[in-house]
Amino acid sequence: MEIVNQVLGLFAYLFVFAAGLAVLSVVVLYVVDITQTTHAIRRNYPVIGRFRYFFEELGEFFRQYFFAMDREEMPFNRAERSWVYRAAKGLDNTVAFGSTRDLGRVGTPVFVNCPWPTLDSDAADPQPITVGEATCRHPYTTDRIFHVSGMSFGAISEPAIRALSNGAHMAGCWLNTGEGGLSPFHLEGGADIVFQIGTAKYGVCKADGSLDEDKLREIAAHEQVRMFEIKLSQGAKPGKGGMLPGAKVTEEIAAVRGIQVGQDSNSPNRHLDIANTHELLDFIDRVREITGKPVGFKTVIGAYGWLQDLCWEAQSRGPTSGPDFITVDSGDGGTGAAPMPLMDCVGMTVRESLPLVINILGETGMRDRVKVIASGKMIIPSAVATAFCMGADFVVTARGFMFSLGCIQAMKCNQNTCPTGITTHDKRLHRGLVPADKAERVKRYQRQMEKEVSMIAHSCGVSEPRQLRRYHCRLVQANGTTLPMDEIYPYRDAKSRAQRPVA
Ligand SMILES: Cc1cc2nc3c(=O)[nH]c(=O)nc-3n(C[C@H](O)[C@H](O)[C@H](O)COP(=O)(O)O)c2cc1C
Repeated sequence: MEIVNQVLGLFAYLFVFAAGLAVLSVVVLYVVDITQTTHAIRRNYPVIGRFRYFFEELGEFFRQYFFAMDREEMPFNRAERSWVYRAAKGLDNTVAFGSTRDLGRVGTPVFVNCPWPTLDSDAADPQPITVGEATCRHPYTTDRIFHVSGMSFGAISEPAIRALSNGAHMAGCWLNTGEGGLSPFHLEGGADIVFQIGTAKYGVCKADGSLDEDKLREIAAHEQVRMFEIKLSQGAKPGKGGMLPGAKVTEEIAAVRGIQVGQDSNSPNRHLDIANTHELLDFIDRVREITGKPVGFKTVIGAYGWLQDLCWEAQSRGPTSGPDFITVDSGDGGTGAAPMPLMDCVGMTVRESLPLVINILGETGMRDRVKVIASGKMIIPSAVATAFCMGADFVVTARGFMFSLGCIQAMKCNQNTCPTGITTHDKRLHRGLVPADKAERVKRYQRQMEKEVSMIAHSCGVSEPRQLRRYHCRLVQANGTTLPMDEIYPYRDAKSRAQRPVA
């Protein structure tokens, strides 16, 4: 009996010891998690956050039995997100065994490799491009091809903007403010800034909703502010202005925007003073005159006859009229908040609208004057290279850079509860997003993107991405065969830079 008691006592000791050890481990892991700065989820959800990685690991094994393959998640699938995460973390970006991409899917781009690819020694860096060369007192020159698309202070948080600002500066690319005005956090890192004038004109607005020229002058006086983008529409909600739920309108955000704390911040569906192409051209000329810097507009394309009218009218007004750039956003673009019918069903995707816009500029003789910026789900190298084949001068992304900041596609941007601290103003959740660490990731993502887009260009036998042409890319058709993009979207420019070379 005594032996049994002794054994039971031993087990009791062992149990207490094991329980104590478990509690101690949890405490140690807790401290490790809240003090480390690289993983937002672990910092915001210490210990529990670790299960994410465990389940991800299990998912690798279980997916083949129960779950979707890594190409089936929306709006960005696992393969695309993983590429961004690896690029941002500076990890090896090679994959093994074979492609998981469905190469028979309609619209899939297939690049035309050259039998004699470009040698590394013959590769060139992308050539610098100057925007507003003939029209502005202060044109803008950049040799980067991939930049940060507009996300407002409000839609995204202070630490997210600080990370983007510092990361963009280190990468040498620009950061677009989005429509929420210019905050000190945008300026903090020293990056080039594109100031967006949204339909509510936050930051440059008079009480009656019209443009405050003095405030605009003040913004333009910042050397870092290099260009101005007039937002007509964005892909996720064409015909609807920006929407920021009251829960996200903090004191700081209200101050930058010039609005009331805690109240929903809804921009008008269009600029009150821009209702046709003449007024748009007038507004562009006015902003350019005041700021001396390049001015363009952002739009998602649905109807497009107006764009032809605008180009012809700019031509008739003279060589210094018209936009210095047009940002063509895709109907399937992202946002902090939008109504589903607009998000799902309104506006062409950039795949269709980009060649169309470039053709209109070519036909009207405006292509040399107007640079074209493309956006919409271009978060991996093949998507960016496709845009250059179509004729874009620059590509920008919002959600790609969000992934580089650690976004896990929780789809809660409109709820102020983003678990990674990117689209929330909850200070507790901000702890997970350490700007200094995430800025490095922003830089690495930008640099890796340019490197791998160049790799596609070299495989096609040209020395840099802007030498890609429509004939370098074939698109998969419904019958499983591919057609070259220049047959699907023929050039409409007599002196096109993109005529197919004689074979
Ligand atoms: C959180 C968030 C905020 C955004 N805020 C703005 C904005 O203020 N102004 C704007 O023109 N576009 C805004 N956008 C749209 C993006 O700039 C971009 O046009 C769109 O998401 C398509 O690019 P992507 O697919 O690379 O994200 C926002 C997008 C996101 C995800």
